[in-house]
Amino acid sequence: MKEKIDRLLNEINSFEIASAEQLEDFRLKYLSKKGAVSNLFTDFKTVAPEQKKEFGQLINRVKQAAQGKYNTVKESIAISSLSFNDAEDYTKTSEPLNTGSRHPISTVRQEIVDIFSRLGFTVAEGPEIEDDWHVFSGLNFPEEHPARDMQDTFFIEKDPDVLLRTHTSSVQVRVMENNQPPIRQIFPGRVFRNEAISARSHCIFHQIEGLYIDTEVSFADLKQTLLLFAKEFFGSDTKIRLRPSFFPFTEPSAEMDVSCSICGGKGCAVCKYTGFLEILGCGMVDPNVLEASQINSEKYTGFAFGMGIERIAMLKYQIKDIRYFFENDIRFLKQFSTF
Ligand code: PHE
Repeated sequence: MKEKIDRLLNEINSFEIASAEQLEDFRLKYLSKKGAVSNLFTDFKTVAPEQKKEFGQLINRVKQAAQGKYNTVKESIAISSLSFNDAEDYTKTSEPLNTGSRHPISTVRQEIVDIFSRLGFTVAEGPEIEDDWHVFSGLNFPEEHPARDMQDTFFIEKDPDVLLRTHTSSVQVRVMENNQPPIRQIFPGRVFRNEAISARSHCIFHQIEGLYIDTEVSFADLKQTLLLFAKEFFGSDTKIRLRPSFFPFTEPSAEMDVSCSICGGKGCAVCKYTGFLEILGCGMVDPNVLEASQINSEKYTGFAFGMGIERIAMLKYQIKDIRYFFENDIRFLKQFSTF
């Protein structure tokens, strides 16, 4: 009997169970009513009374071994049979999550700011609702001068001294009246003009203004700064062209063109077959403007430039209509998603 029990114990311990079927075989063979363990209890009835205690313990050990093995294996099979479908992503949210993305104007604005930051320009901002002094008079626009008509102004209420800024040059004045040179800053922001809305112009748009004032700042510095910007933004092969122009607050003044990055300057529909695209206005800060903000024009000189962010973004992304930027059509905006 003892031998039989030992054999059975060995058998139970070495029985290989690798599947649910084998587990069932094991159960039938050892743990069912007609199984080996049950048989041991039948045999037990014939054991001599003085040996009952010893055999009872042995038989119980066999039963526990069989039952223990059965329970453990059953549990592990249950866990591993929880089938995971590889095609399903269980980390997915139940609702689709639409991630937002930067507006193309913000992206371009940031790129421009980054380039000038590398040249040592810091960012400053000013108010969108302005007064006449900061938008016009402080920038050398004479009273009643037709130059004021260059920019159709939105006035607030009936007070001609409260208006929406028509250009970010107003921030120049605010910076100059509160700081002495050296000044090396850029001013990004929204501007407003009472213009008919069309594919090329809007009543709200964005500009970035640059101002550099120090001793001995020359037109060559302006040219070099803008050339570097153009190469960084539009590509290293980009050429620039400065054409004489007029602004009341700069003298001399110029408009800058960059070689068309679409055709490489050969001429195409985008550059109207000229090979160049106009991107900004610039010039040397007029001494009158410096003096109006209590900066000594005998000691200091400076340059300023201003560009429209929409215009630059339209060139960069080949966008034909400025109105797309303000419609917030998700199909348009999605194209600029960086995710
Ligand atoms: N303020 C001018 C405009 O809005 C641009 C400009 C800025 C020109 C600075 C010269 C110097 O058109």
